[in-house]
Amino acid sequence: MLKVEDNELLTRVGPRTPMGEMLREYWMPACRSASLVADGAPRRVRLMGENFVAYRVTDGGAAFAYEACPHRGASMALARNENNGLRCIFHGWKIGANGRIVDCPAEPADTREAFAARLKVGFFPTREAGGMVWVYLGKQSSPPPFPEFEFNNLPDSHVCARRGLVNYNWLQGLEAHIDASHVGILHSGFLNIGKKTAIDARDLGMATANKAPKTEMHVTDYGLREGALRDQGNGTTYARIREIALPFFTFIPHAASEPCSGRATVPVDDEWDAEWYILYDTEKPLTQEAINLLFEGTADDPDNFASNMGNSGNMWNQDRKAMSWHFSGFPRSIPFEDFIIQESMGTRMDRSGEQLGRGDVILVQVRRMLLEAVRGWREGKPAPWNVSREQYRGIRAIATTIPTDMKWTDVNAAEVMRKQAAE
Ligand code: FES
Ligand SMILES: [Fe+2]
Repeated sequence: MLKVEDNELLTRVGPRTPMGEMLREYWMPACRSASLVADGAPRRVRLMGENFVAYRVTDGGAAFAYEACPHRGASMALARNENNGLRCIFHGWKIGANGRIVDCPAEPADTREAFAARLKVGFFPTREAGGMVWVYLGKQSSPPPFPEFEFNNLPDSHVCARRGLVNYNWLQGLEAHIDASHVGILHSGFLNIGKKTAIDARDLGMATANKAPKTEMHVTDYGLREGALRDQGNGTTYARIREIALPFFTFIPHAASEPCSGRATVPVDDEWDAEWYILYDTEKPLTQEAINLLFEGTADDPDNFASNMGNSGNMWNQDRKAMSWHFSGFPRSIPFEDFIIQESMGTRMDRSGEQLGRGDVILVQVRRMLLEAVRGWREGKPAPWNVSREQYRGIRAIATTIPTDMKWTDVNAAEVMRKQAAE
């Protein structure tokens, strides 16, 4: 459980909140690269409790600005996107991609330039990688190192990133992704479905057969690694090794033969969250089959694949009849099972009444780390977990069998996958 004030500290992300200010010190995915067209319509993006627009300039780069025009607040989502900048359709002020006002035609010609030079406009550095437009919303004069996760350095054909918009606070999203003990229970219905699913059948079978794995953790510079360990009684252990790159990213254990799977849980505001599902293959292009397996049953819209999920008003279309053969009654989609459970807890859950058990140790650890970081931030310490390019690139999750006398922390996921590919 969390004290009410600690829950507030962790879950409030708007401007001038301690967590909101700290989280702005990390690069975060804002929208899909493919959703922006050069000189095309600006796209509204709500992030961290504020409204922005993302757009692609004439020269091809992605740019990011506040949605409100710096003159009198008209929406820049309505603006003309022309000649490397956004021109407000109200009085014609034009913001260049560099965050400067380059024209204000309703001002007298002789003072126009000097006036424009004095104006303050929000400027936010962007990067494009992994099929996503990333933005830095923080206050430092130079942004932190870009998170060079493996998926950010692959050809487009090797990565598929889609976003789901869900009605819960970002911390619920993160807590769902780091929670190993629900896998063999909430998702167990997919064992009975009689066809291939996004979770490898053997992996899901292992998780379902032993619902209370021994959970160990190992704190790292970027967050932590979690090992969910199931002793198989024959000198081997089934190890599901999850990577958590705080504050936003989780890498989900998967069979060595399957593509890798990352998640980012990025605050839209205190009550909405952007769930990024990032499927990637480091060696070869992703197959359409692998993409379909992960997103089966979800909406076709890659900018919001959760748009057909339902809501609390219709109980997310839970199929009570299906519960005779499917555990949760949500046989449509594995990601939706996770989203629905989080929405069912309330948009910003009150953690003061929780009663946690041994299966929740990772959650307790991550909350402790987040609290320590945000308290430190409040006292002037730098935001933790920004690491080197090499460290980011070394992050990969895996589910595999190891000799029981081997330490799970010595498992190298890339090596396990290479061996499997060679067999
Ligand atoms: S409100 Fe945009 S130019 Fe006046
Ligand atoms: Fe899950």
